Amino acid sequence: MVALPDPEDFTRELLVASNSDRGRLLQYLHAIQQRYSHIPETSVHQLALALRLSESRIRGVIGFYSFLHDTPRGDYDILFSDSITDHMLGSRVLLGDLCTRLGVEPGLPRADGRVTVDVTSCTGMCDQGPAILINGQAVTRLDNFRISSIAALIENLTPLDEWPSELFEVQDNIRRADILLSRGSCGGGALRALVEKGADTIFGEIATSGLRGRGGAGFNTAMKWKFCRAARDDEMNDRVVICNADEGEPGTFKDRVLLNSHADDVFEGMTLCAGIIGARHGYLYLRGEYLYMKHALEETLAQRRRDGLLGQNILGQAGFDFDIEIHLGAGAYVCGEESALIESLEGKRGVPRVRPPFPVTHGYLGKPTVVNNVETFMAAAKIALEGANWFRAVGTEQSTGTKLHSISGDCDRPGIYEFPFGVSIQQVLEECGAADTLAVQVAGAAGSTIPPAEFHRSIAFEDISSGGSFMVFGRHRDLLDMVQNFSRFFVHESCGFCTPCRVGGVLLKDLVDKVHAGRAGTADIQELHRIGTVVKLTSHCGLGTEAANPVLDTLGKFPSIYEKHLTQADYQPAFDLDAALQDARDLSGRDDAGAHIRTDL
Ligand SMILES: Cc1cc2nc3c(=O)[nH]c(=O)nc-3n(C[C@H](O)[C@H](O)[C@H](O)COP(=O)(O)O)c2cc1C
Ligand code: SF4
Repeated sequence: MVALPDPEDFTRELLVASNSDRGRLLQYLHAIQQRYSHIPETSVHQLALALRLSESRIRGVIGFYSFLHDTPRGDYDILFSDSITDHMLGSRVLLGDLCTRLGVEPGLPRADGRVTVDVTSCTGMCDQGPAILINGQAVTRLDNFRISSIAALIENLTPLDEWPSELFEVQDNIRRADILLSRGSCGGGALRALVEKGADTIFGEIATSGLRGRGGAGFNTAMKWKFCRAARDDEMNDRVVICNADEGEPGTFKDRVLLNSHADDVFEGMTLCAGIIGARHGYLYLRGEYLYMKHALEETLAQRRRDGLLGQNILGQAGFDFDIEIHLGAGAYVCGEESALIESLEGKRGVPRVRPPFPVTHGYLGKPTVVNNVETFMAAAKIALEGANWFRAVGTEQSTGTKLHSISGDCDRPGIYEFPFGVSIQQVLEECGAADTLAVQVAGAAGSTIPPAEFHRSIAFEDISSGGSFMVFGRHRDLLDMVQNFSRFFVHESCGFCTPCRVGGVLLKDLVDKVHAGRAGTADIQELHRIGTVVKLTSHCGLGTEAANPVLDTLGKFPSIYEKHLTQADYQPAFDLDAALQDARDLSGRDDAGAHIRTDL
C-alpha cells in the first residue's frame, strides 16, 4: 500500500485550499474519511481550531452521517446495499459468502485492518442489484463469480484503480423514453430563450406549463420560484438555487440516470431558475452513494463555463452571473428533506428545521433559496425551450407532463421508464414485464402499498403521488419481509430530533420483528395500529409522518400477512418479566407469591 501523507498535513492543505470555510465542514470530513478510512483525532482538533467550532460539534457531525467514522474502517471498506430488492436478489447470501471468504465479521474490521464488510441503506442501484459500495465506488450485478473475484483482488492487495473496469460499470437501463428523455440536450437553448424573450416571458411559460415538483410533494414550481423572487432583496441577487440529488428513497434511481446522461440539461434548468429568480450561487447536493459520478459532473460544469453558460456574464449578458458547486452527502436519508439538506450544506448535522420560515425566504445561510429535484430542473429547461403547450399536451389536467419511474423487483425489465402522468399501475406492470403480482410499492418506503384490486388506479398527484420509486412484489413473496425492511430503514435513518419518530419508530420495528418471529398476538396488532398512528400524527418532519405508512397500509390492505404469523390469541409479552426479576428475588432472599409478577405460581 502507498504511504499516506500525515493527516495533519493533509487537513491543513484542505483548509488552506478553501480558506477554512465552515460551510465546507462536511466536505473536509468526506475528503479525510476517504483518505484515512476514518477521521483521526488530530484532524478533528485542527478543524475545530481553524473553523472556530467546538470539537464536540465536529464529533456530532461525524456521528450523524453513516459514511463518517471516528475509528478506522478496513483499507477496503465494503457496504452491501440493504434495500429489500437487493435482498430479493440474494444479497444476504452473497454477503455471508464474502465474509466467509475473507474471514471477517460483518461490521468489524479484519484483524489486519485490510477489509470491512457491512450494510448500508439502499444505494440507488435496485435495477442492477445486488449492489455494493467499495470505498465509495459502486459495483453492481453481484453474483458468486463477482464475489470470488472481489475476495481475490482484496487478498492480493490490488489497488482499486487496477480492478477490472467492468466491475464498476453502472448501466442507465432506460426502457421507455417520452418527451423528456427522447429530446437531445438543450445545449444552452433554454438560456438563449431566456435572454431573447426575457425572464418574465419564460417564467410565464413555466407557470402555464403547470410543472409540479418531481421530488414527491408536487409543489407548483413556478409558485416556489415566484415566492423566492419576491423575498426580501437586501443584498442584490443573493439568492440561492439548490438541486436536490440526495435520492435516498429506497427503490429510487432515476436522478442517478439523469445526472449520468442528462446532467447538462439539469444544470441548464438550475441556471434558468437563477436567471428568473436572481441568484448567483447554486449547489448540487449529490448523495454520497453517487460519488463515482462527481468527476464527470465537474467536467460538465467546466465545459459549461467554457461555453459561456455558467460563470460571469452568462451568454454575454452583463450581470447574469451564476455558478454551481457540488456538495457530497454522506449517507443520511433525512438530508433529502429540504431544510435538513440546507443544514447539511451549511456543514451541520442534517436535522430538519422548524418551519416556517420556509427556504424560499430563509434558506441557505438565511438567504432566499429554491430547492428543486433533479427531474424538476430538467423539465423546466425543456419547457423554456419547447414551450408550455408542448408540456401540457401530455399528462392530466392537474399533473401535466411526464414522470420518470425507477422500476425494480419482480419484473423482467427493471430500469427507468418515462410515462405521461395518469398511467395506470396495470399499464406500468405490463410494460416492465411483471406477471402474477402480489403488490406494488409506489413512492418507496415512505409511499403506498398497492394491492391488485387497485391496479386500475393511476400515478398522478390527484391519485397515487410518487417521487419515482416503483417496486414490484410477486405472489411468492412474503410482504412482511418488506415491512420489516422498511421499519428497520426508518429506525436507522431517523435523525433522533423528535420523540415520536425516534422512539415510536423503534417500537414499530420491534413489534414487526415480533410478528415476523411468530411471537405476536392480536394485542400486538392493535399496538402496531396505535403507535403507527401516533408516529404519523405527531412527528416533526416528513420522514416521521410517513415512516408508519408501510405498517398502516399493509395492516389495512394485507391483514393476512400479519395473521398468518400470529401464534398467540392474546397478548404475549416480548420477554419474561417475572424471570428477569429472579436476580432481585435472590438478592432480597424472597421467593413468596408477592415477589412474583406471575399469579399462576
Ligand atoms: C425524508 C425526506 C426525504 C426526501 N428526499 C428527497 C430527495 O431525495 N430528493 C428530492 O428531490 N426531494 C426529497 N424530499 C422532498 C424535499 O423535501 C423537497 O420537497 C423537494 O426537494 C422539492 O423539490 P421539488 O419541488 O422539485 O419536488 C424528501 C423529503 C423528505 C421528508
Ligand atoms: S420526524 Fe424523525 S427524522 Fe424528522 S425530525 Fe423527527 S426524528 Fe428527525
